[in-house]
Amino acid sequence: MKRCVTPLLLAACMLMPLVSMADQALAAAKNCLACHNIDRKVVGPAYKDVAAKYRGDKTATPRLVAKIREGGGGVWGVVKMPSNPQVNEAEATRLVTWILSQ
Ligand code: HEC
Repeated sequence: MKRCVTPLLLAACMLMPLVSMADQALAAAKNCLACHNIDRKVVGPAYKDVAAKYRGDKTATPRLVAKIREGGGGVWGVVKMPSNPQVNEAEATRLVTWILSQ
């Protein structure tokens, strides 16, 4: 029994977070996590707070994609986010989709 259950559990545990892990890895690789954390404010707002703020706002995604790439401020405090030219539009869209699902 032990022999059979362990690999099954392992497979389930590894498969489920795989998608969101890939996006988190992208956020780490693009340096977003230097200023952001999922559930705690660092330099920038926690991604959970961002998700809560824009929940149900259908126009949020394109605005946030543009803001990530161009930078900007005035929404969460006095500190501005610098531009992030290292992310292309597709990557920024993927990151926003991931952030808004937190
Ligand atoms: C140098 C620090 C820094 C880095 C690096 C950074 N951010 Fe930010 N981010 C901020 C700050 C500060 C704000 C708050 C800006 C404001 O008040 O409008 C912010 C705001 C945001 C917001 C919310 C914008 C809004 O208008 O509500 C999102 C989404 C976001 N960042 C995503 C990202 C992503 C994705 C990356 C990586 C590509 C990234 N950030 C990299 C500092 C940073």
